[in-house]
Amino acid sequence: MGENVNTIIEKISDGSSGFSGKEEEILRRAGNIIKSGGLVAFPTETVYGLGGDALNRESARRIYAAKGRPSDNPLIVHICRVQDLGEIAAEVPEEAVRIADAFWPGPLTMILKKADRVPGETTGGLDTVAVRFPSHPAARKLIQYGGGFIAAPSANLSGKPSPTEGRYVTEDMNGRINMILDGGAAGIGLESTIIDLTVTPPQILRPGYVTQMMLSRVLGEVDIDVTILDGSSAQAPRAPGMKYRHYAPRGDLVIVEGTSEHVAAYMNRKAAEDARAGERTGIIGTKETVGQYRADVVTCLGARKDQDSIARNLYSALRQMDDENVTKIYCECFTDRDFGQAIMNRLLKAAGHTVVRV
Ligand code: TXA
Ligand code: MG
Repeated sequence: MGENVNTIIEKISDGSSGFSGKEEEILRRAGNIIKSGGLVAFPTETVYGLGGDALNRESARRIYAAKGRPSDNPLIVHICRVQDLGEIAAEVPEEAVRIADAFWPGPLTMILKKADRVPGETTGGLDTVAVRFPSHPAARKLIQYGGGFIAAPSANLSGKPSPTEGRYVTEDMNGRINMILDGGAAGIGLESTIIDLTVTPPQILRPGYVTQMMLSRVLGEVDIDVTILDGSSAQAPRAPGMKYRHYAPRGDLVIVEGTSEHVAAYMNRKAAEDARAGERTGIIGTKETVGQYRADVVTCLGARKDQDSIARNLYSALRQMDDENVTKIYCECFTDRDFGQAIMNRLLKAAGHTVVRV
């Protein structure tokens, strides 16, 4: 789908206490758009998705066109009932059942061998399929009304941070898709964990809210793709999408690691030098430190210990830097333990792995 489509934008509640009759009607209409081959952006508990019928090759082509995304980058198929896994996977191994029990509906995607009915357009030509059962009430309703199988990448233009709020979807997708369901802020703020169950031991291809430790409690040994935190690895990442420079703000982003005094001194000195050279400067910090920073734009992700808050605010902080035309950005470094692994993975990708130790 190119540009100049008339995009209907509808506000809906997060559905935590059910949907009104009017909202049901909107969701039903959205489902009909999907069933007839159109595209609808919708909220999930991770980030907003750009949905089309996963079993319709034309819909998959439209998704790639709307995002400006290379078509060798496979899409995640979203379902709304665990039993539908068997409809799109050639086989459902026992591990899949165990992690579905433990983490679905929720922010976890599993890779399985695909069934014949899933078109190669949806899987980027691979013989495997990525499947997720999201927990967001609007997502579940839309999948149900849309025929049960919705292919949905994040609803950003290729190369931009994933949208965590409806207004970012509108910024990127207005005029390119049929409908946007604006359900407020996405809760988690980073994309789902992806685990590949076609290899032994199972391997995490993208870290997320469901951590390696949580998965290994259910599955036993779980590997992690080495390229996730190591930018110098010569190996290609196994999730095709992870090889692209993703989540990138337009300005140059540098991650600064060290004691808080050294980090603040370094960032303030660099920002002052940059400003003298005519750059517009930005610093991304935390509650504990943000008062010490001096730059054109200073933004706070939340308390250092509060990984949920840091994750939830990271992409909007990066988008804010773009909105304010910041050309030089400095960001604090975070622990890569637990959920921090997902935070650092996205931040490292946004920074093209540029880390300064002070
Ligand atoms: O939280 C999420 O997963 C969000 C929401 C909308 O559900 N979706 C999302 O989709 O992040 P996307 O398309 O932006 O990222 C999907 C990632 C890509 O890196 C892609 O390469 C990988 O999943 N992927 C999809 N199918 C795969 C497969 N069969 N094998 C390996 N990687 C796959
Ligand atoms: Mg994405």
